Amino acid sequence: MKVTIRPSPRLSGRVQLPGDKSVSHRLAMLGAIAEGVTRIANFATSHDCHSTLACLSLMSVPIAVESNHQVTIQGRGLLGLKPSSETLDAQNSGSTIRMLSGILAGQKFATRISGDESLQKRPMNRIMAPLTQMGAHIEAIQGNYPPLTIHGGRLRPICYELPVASAQVKSAVLLAGLYAEGETTVVEPVLTRNHTELALRGFGAEVKADRNTVSVRGGQKLRGIETTVPGDLSSAAFFIGAATLAAGSEVILEEVGLNPGRRGIVDLLAGMGASIEILDTRLHGGEPVADLRVRTAGLRGGRIFGAQIPQVIDEIPILAVMATQSEEGIEIRDAGELRVKESDRIRSIVENLRAMGADVEEFEDGLAVAGRQRLQGTVIKTYNDHRIAMAFAVAGLVARGDTVIEGAECAAVSFPGFFEALEKLKG
Ligand code: S3P
Repeated sequence: MKVTIRPSPRLSGRVQLPGDKSVSHRLAMLGAIAEGVTRIANFATSHDCHSTLACLSLMSVPIAVESNHQVTIQGRGLLGLKPSSETLDAQNSGSTIRMLSGILAGQKFATRISGDESLQKRPMNRIMAPLTQMGAHIEAIQGNYPPLTIHGGRLRPICYELPVASAQVKSAVLLAGLYAEGETTVVEPVLTRNHTELALRGFGAEVKADRNTVSVRGGQKLRGIETTVPGDLSSAAFFIGAATLAAGSEVILEEVGLNPGRRGIVDLLAGMGASIEILDTRLHGGEPVADLRVRTAGLRGGRIFGAQIPQVIDEIPILAVMATQSEEGIEIRDAGELRVKESDRIRSIVENLRAMGADVEEFEDGLAVAGRQRLQGTVIKTYNDHRIAMAFAVAGLVARGDTVIEGAECAAVSFPGFFEALEKLKG
């Protein structure tokens, strides 16, 4: 599918975001291994989260999805999943395969799990190493790539120091920790999103968290819950970008999750001069949520690196686009992880910004985008990466001439209805 974006000033209106992708994955997985019924309102429409539901269904978890995005899961208990005769298909979803592996490592049966062409190129040794230390046996292509065959069983608790800052890996180890005899601990080099810890507590498990260390005791029973998923900040980020850049805009983003490990996009942009008002903060299932009012503003630019990176890891495509309209440009470093996302995001960003006529320097671990640039509308290659499709749709709003997003359907991996929501703001 091709979508043409015409330049447009003055976005105005309210946007209701899809339910948070990261939170929805975790609630679905925990609901499946809890006892009793879990009812989740505002479950993500994201295709990735529906891949998680499909994998759980193949292991005989009864799941009902209603048209109002309410999902009801009949929990099977920690050891109540049934072996699947089919290979589980995580499709494009790294979160599904990596986090679910933690649960599969604790089952008394073997499971094969794979995904689409992009997922089959993403590294899995990061979860294989700790889960193997815990006693699971995992087969992979070249020791690193899906399909994975996970032979689960009784697990040993470990204390695992994460070699890369990754919430997916932290979560896989914590979920496996539910099946270990004793206390499993994860030490993070840099704080990442703590959705798993919050969700585990919501389901009644005790989780100890102290600065960079999180521990969970094995054998704790989870109880089904009723909860509501916050709006997805990573989806909201494209509208924060669009309203900041498109002259004369004022947009309200409703019920957006502001998890402390995720809100970097709001804090960083505010520090660079963006106008983002946080209205009425409250809690949804332990997660902070607020409405955001975003008005057009100039951005200074600056450097983003080190501990800031995990806070904005999914927002770098939109930050790079915004950098072109800043005063001083933006340099992003220590972000080598971007090379192993849904596409090599450093390459995908650099190539598309250059195609729009921008001055960009590429590094192994990041990029430097010059400020005050006129972008030229062109054909954008998404590399089947949802965040590239949406970030460059925003670039198209401030470019000269039309911008054509090729393969735009991939936006549905996290945000079905994104292009329609953007059109609506043009009024
Ligand atoms: C996620 C963690 C991040 C992020 C991904 C979702 C999560 O991945 O990029 O989109 O829900 O835990 P890593 O853990 O690989 O950094």
